[in-house]
Amino acid sequence: MQIDIDLTNCYSFISENEIAEEAEKSVHYLETLVKRTGPGNNFLGWLDLPEESSLLTDKINITAEELRSQAPVTVVIGIGGSYLGARAVAESLKSPLPLVDNKRQHELLFAGQNISEDFHSSLLAYLDGKHFNIIVISKSGTTTESAIAFRILKKQLEKNVPTNRLNKHIIAITDSKKGALRLLADREGYTSFIIPDDVGGRYSVLTPVGLLPIAVAGFNISEFVEGAAQMAFSTRDNNMAKSNPALLYASARNLLYKKGKLIEILVNYEPSMHFIAEWWKQLFGESEGKEGKGIFPAAADLTTDLHSLGQYMQDGERILIETVLSVNSHRSELTIPSDKENLDELNYLAGKRLSEVNAKAEEGTTMAHVAGGVPVIRINIPVINERYLGQLLYFFEISCAISGYLLGVNPFDQPGVEAYKKNMFRLLGKSR
Ligand code: PA5
Repeated sequence: MQIDIDLTNCYSFISENEIAEEAEKSVHYLETLVKRTGPGNNFLGWLDLPEESSLLTDKINITAEELRSQAPVTVVIGIGGSYLGARAVAESLKSPLPLVDNKRQHELLFAGQNISEDFHSSLLAYLDGKHFNIIVISKSGTTTESAIAFRILKKQLEKNVPTNRLNKHIIAITDSKKGALRLLADREGYTSFIIPDDVGGRYSVLTPVGLLPIAVAGFNISEFVEGAAQMAFSTRDNNMAKSNPALLYASARNLLYKKGKLIEILVNYEPSMHFIAEWWKQLFGESEGKEGKGIFPAAADLTTDLHSLGQYMQDGERILIETVLSVNSHRSELTIPSDKENLDELNYLAGKRLSEVNAKAEEGTTMAHVAGGVPVIRINIPVINERYLGQLLYFFEISCAISGYLLGVNPFDQPGVEAYKKNMFRLLGKSR
């Protein structure tokens, strides 16, 4: 079984024939990608990660086990591509509430994604007196948000851990040669992992950037990597337009874009998948939003946001594409109880599983949105586990690369993210 894509609910906006033609056209871009002859071809190391990372999993699991055994909490410091993949996968798999899942009682916290004084003060208060580890991740080694968080948390760690054991509690994931974090790691003797030169942040979830935190959280990274390898097989080496889900997804969204659909909302009906959408927003936003072009990637948690964004989705500007992460079966089972009095008039649902009700909410919402002028792409996920998440993330990565080429941009650079940094550094009086 594998995740797949269903475009049926787009056919009243773009025909099956149009999609097939666009998918045939996009075969060329898939080949360009695989032959590494297109723009950004020095950042295509991620194509090989499903195979290469399987050689790294043992070493990563050993380090993860050491971290788990020496402290109950690990703080992962990073931002953007140096954070979102790990959080997306770990939060999809873990219990939404603390300490429910006894087997994996290791708490993963995240920092380095903001410069908020209140956030950092609360984090320090929470960690006070606790044993914890730090995994600090930065490819450049100079990102302000993560460097500030690391400096603050290192000071806190120094209070708890004897100096001669400090480096056992800090793992650095960074460039092999350059950057301040590399210098620190070498000088202080931290265990370190390397982010390959030819893998950009948003494509790095299958490197130690994603794999180490996921393993520390107690999840099976070999399954995750194998899932990605399965998806690589069915997308990267498959130029059969009709059966390649990445070609179909890239083609459908580009056709819809040409027809004025400027915003794509990735929706889930499982709150645990909230951060998958955060990761996806970065992947597509940084890859495609350039040269005055690109679909704006947005996200909604349903049914929650049907009570806030629902009105706009149904009835606002007709510029939306909705892409649904549709989970087909569930890890737990819970039915709605019957009630003698039935004052809430819910007995018509008694005995039904919540997942059945959720599935009907999804079906009803899709029908309403399509009727209201929103094309809906459905991505079927058999169940949320490591393997299917590996498939899903790799599916999005390869789709995004093809989609960027179809759009006519280099999907592997991000010149725009420097603008705010230049202003911030000038305002803060940074000397160089
Ligand atoms: O995708 C990207 O390149 C960015 O989102 C980076 O991952 C992010 O800015 C963090 O950079 P660094 O890993 O250098 O700290």
